[in-house]
Amino acid sequence: MSKHSSFRHALLGGAIAGLTAAYVVRRQQYAAAAQRYQYPDGKALITGASAGIGAAYAEKLAAIGYDLVLVARREKRLKTFAAQLEATYGVQVECIAADLASQAGIGTVIGRIKTGQDIAFLVNNAGFSTTIPFAELDYTVVDDMARLHVLAVAKLTRAALPSMIAHHAGTVVNVSSLMGYMAEAYHSNYCATKAYLNTFSESLAREVSSLGVTVQALCPGLTDTDFHMSADYDAWDRAAYPAFMWQTADEVVGYSLQHIREGKSGMCITGWLNKVLVLVVRHHVIAPPLMRLFEHVMRLWTAQMARMTNAK
Ligand SMILES: NC(=O)c1ccc[n+]([C@@H]2O[C@H](COP(=O)([O-])OP(=O)(O)OC[C@H]3O[C@@H](n4cnc5c(N)ncnc54)[C@H](OP(=O)(O)O)[C@@H]3O)[C@@H](O)[C@H]2O)c1
Repeated sequence: MSKHSSFRHALLGGAIAGLTAAYVVRRQQYAAAAQRYQYPDGKALITGASAGIGAAYAEKLAAIGYDLVLVARREKRLKTFAAQLEATYGVQVECIAADLASQAGIGTVIGRIKTGQDIAFLVNNAGFSTTIPFAELDYTVVDDMARLHVLAVAKLTRAALPSMIAHHAGTVVNVSSLMGYMAEAYHSNYCATKAYLNTFSESLAREVSSLGVTVQALCPGLTDTDFHMSADYDAWDRAAYPAFMWQTADEVVGYSLQHIREGKSGMCITGWLNKVLVLVVRHHVIAPPLMRLFEHVMRLWTAQMARMTNAK
């Protein structure tokens, strides 16, 4: 055998051995992640659990046996939901009424996390948006969004991580948005704070995955919840977006938990349509003309819908 061909064989052998080792390590990581997910030792703390995506997390995590700590402002609603979950799934549910757009509210939840040292699954989900032009936006709304989407998430995660690292097990989900990849008029602050969540989560995932902690940024697209029902969304036409673009909160949370069960960390984009959209909007050359085309198609669609409604 020539020197060249034995070198090629050695190279090929090395590559096969390397790939096999990587595959075995990955399978072990998957199995460990699945076990951590299925047999939770600690509790799950979910912010914004009184409705929508947060409530769907509460339901699905209770169904696999997690005791819960639910956080939101509407205490009565939270308590009624907690009682339903306890009766249905036989789990224990604590409620914390806190406004996470305030320093006091953030402090209360940090206090609970530090005292208990028992949070194995943290879902930073609470959020809101508005369609008001930025130049007219109330200063308090600017503060609230920065506290809720940025400071609350970073501080609650900071509070929960030491105990997760000590147990070499834990999950942090930061509910971001497809808008975190986009630049949308009338949503500048929303897009920017969600972009923060994407970068924060992906960077942190790299930092703590070898310490047994999974960090995910969940990026849903249009999701059928109360999110677009606030007074700020009065001028926003929900019917302008075709049915195939909408997902349910259950579907969205299903994608998130599936990724976690499979041991995946970092970004989780919900569904192939949203993945294609991200691919397009992230491409700085093709994004502007394609977005203009999309906006044009949406305008035609809205006009057609209006004509059909008027004709009825
Ligand atoms: N729906 C969508 O199309 C969509 C798409 C992409 C991403 N998202 C993200 O998904 C997350 C959940 O939204 P959703 O669609 O489930 O909306 P939702 O039905 O309006 O629920 C929002 C939740 O956040 C809580 N919340 C809002 N402000 C809060 C505050 N200051 N302090 C504590 N809790 C607060 C609300 O509870 P209380 O009112 O009781 O406090 C409620 O439980 C948000 O982060 C949103 O940005 C939504």
